[in-house]
Amino acid sequence: MKALRFGLAAIFAILPPTALAAEKKADSIDELAKMYDVSSCKECHAGVFEEWAKSYHAKSLVGSPRTMATIATSITDGLFKEYTYSGAKEVKDITVEHLMVCAKCHLPQLKNATDNVAREIAQAAIDGAGGDAAAKEKLGLVGINCLICHNEKAIIHKWTDGKVEANTIYGSKDGDHPHASFTKLKKSQTLPESIMCGQCHGLGPNFELAEPTQCATLYGSYLHNYVPSGGTESCQDCHMRKAGTGHYMPAYRDPVMAKDAVAVEVDTRGYYFLAKAGDSIPTAVVTVKMTSQAGHRIPDG
Ligand code: HEC
Ligand code: HEC
Ligand code: HEC
Ligand code: HEC
Ligand code: HEC
Repeated sequence: MKALRFGLAAIFAILPPTALAAEKKADSIDELAKMYDVSSCKECHAGVFEEWAKSYHAKSLVGSPRTMATIATSITDGLFKEYTYSGAKEVKDITVEHLMVCAKCHLPQLKNATDNVAREIAQAAIDGAGGDAAAKEKLGLVGINCLICHNEKAIIHKWTDGKVEANTIYGSKDGDHPHASFTKLKKSQTLPESIMCGQCHGLGPNFELAEPTQCATLYGSYLHNYVPSGGTESCQDCHMRKAGTGHYMPAYRDPVMAKDAVAVEVDTRGYYFLAKAGDSIPTAVVTVKMTSQAGHRIPDG
C-alpha cells in the first residue's frame, strides 16, 4: 500500500501545484472550484472521500435544497427589498460582502473570489430555486471540503499556533504528505476539538457583519448549557466517532442520530372527581418529561 501511495505521489509531482497558494482571486465558480479542487485526495483517502461526498458539507450552497432556496430569497426579498441600505437592487450590484452574510459559514472560500463569483452564485441560487437543474449543479461544485477543514480552518489561535501554511495538510501528526501541492502534515490543536466545528456552527448573531445573520447557533448552547451541566463529549465524539459514519457527520435526518436523541418519560394517572352526588368527573393527569440527549439544543437555528 505504501509503495502504491508513493507511486501515485510521483505522478502527482508532475502536476502543477493547485492555486490555493496563488494570489490571484477566482473569477468564476469553475475557477473557485479548481482553486479548492480535492479530487486528488480521493486516490488515497477513498473511504473518507465517499463519506464526505454524501455529507451536507459537500453541498453547502444547496443543502436539502432549502439552503439554495433561502439564499435566493435572502437576495430577492432581503438585499433587493427589505435591506434599504444594502446598495444592491439587482444581481449586477451584488458583491462578495453581500453574500458573506451566508458564505461566512456556507462557503468561506468566497473571500478568495471576485464580485463576479458572488453574482454568478446569486444568479444560480435564484435560477436553481426556480427549478433550473443546471444552476443547482453549478452550486454543487463548491462547498465545505477537505481543504476548508484540514487547511484554512485548522488553526484558530494564530498568535499562539501561527498562520495556516499553504502547502500543509493539518491532521493529528507532523510529517511528510505524499501530495504535489500539500507536501507537509502538521498537527492541529483545533481539529479534534468542538471549537473546530464552532467556527461555523455558531454562537448567535454574527455581529461582525454589516447585516448580522443568525442561522446556526448550537455551539452556543453546547458551550453555555451542555458543558456547564457536566457534558463531556465533543462534536466529533457524537457525530464522527460514535455515529460510526466518520466524515458523513449525520444529524436528525439520520436514524443513527435521531433514535436516542430525546428521552421521553410519560407518567399517567386516571381518577375521578366527585363534583356533587351522582355526578362524577373522570379526570386524567399526564406528565411528559422530554430530555434532549444531544450535546446542544434541538432543533437548531
Ligand atoms: C498519494 C497519496 C495521498 C494523496 C493524493 C493524499 N494523501 Fe493525505 N495522506 C496520505 C498518507 C500516506 C497519509 C499518512 C501519513 C502518515 O500516516 O504518516 C496521509 C495523511 C493525511 C491526513 C492526516 C491524517 C491523520 O491521521 O491526521 C489528512 C488530513 C490528509 N492526508 C488529507 C488529505 C487531503 C485533504 C488530500 C487532498 C488534497 C490528501 N490527503 C491527498 C496519502 C495521500
Ligand atoms: C454562523 C454560520 C452561518 C451563517 C452566517 C449562515 N449559516 Fe446557514 N447554516 C449554518 C450551519 C452550520 C447549518 C447546518 C446546521 C444546522 O442546521 O444547525 C446551516 C443550515 C442552514 C439551512 C438549513 C439547511 C437545510 O438544507 O436544511 C439553511 C436553509 C441555511 N443555513 C441558510 C442560510 C442562509 C440563506 C444564510 C445567509 C442569509 C445563512 N444560512 C447563514 C451556518 C451558517
Ligand atoms: C467539516 C470538516 C472536515 C471536512 C470537510 C473534512 N474533514 Fe477530515 N477530519 C475532520 C476532523 C474534525 C477530523 C478528526 C476526527 C477525530 O478527531 O476523530 C478529521 C480526520 C481526518 C483524517 C484522519 C482520520 C480518518 O478518519 O482517517 C483524514 C485522513 C481526513 N480527515 C481526510 C479528509 C479528506 C480527504 C477530506 C475531504 C474528502 C476531509 N478530511 C474533509 C474534519 C473534516
Ligand atoms: C466551514 C464551516 C463549517 C465547519 C468548520 C463545520 N461545519 Fe458542519 N455544516 C456547515 C454548514 C454550512 C452546514 C449546512 C450545509 C447545508 O445543509 O446547507 C453544516 C452541516 C452539518 C451537519 C448536518 C446538519 C443537518 O442539517 O443535517 C452536521 C451534523 C455538521 N455540520 C457537523 C459538523 C461537525 C461535527 C463539525 C466539526 C468536526 C463541523 N460540522 C464543522 C458548516 C461547517
Ligand atoms: C452527546 C452527543 C452530541 C454532542 C456532544 C453533539 N451533538 Fe449534535 N446532535 C446530537 C444528536 C443526537 C442530534 C440529533 C437530534 C435530533 O434527532 O433532532 C444532533 C443534531 C445536530 C445537528 C442538527 C441540528 C438540528 O437542527 O436538528 C447539528 C448541526 C449538530 N448536531 C452539530 C453538532 C456540533 C457542531 C456539535 C459540537 C459543538 C455537536 N453537534 C455536539 C448529538 C450530539
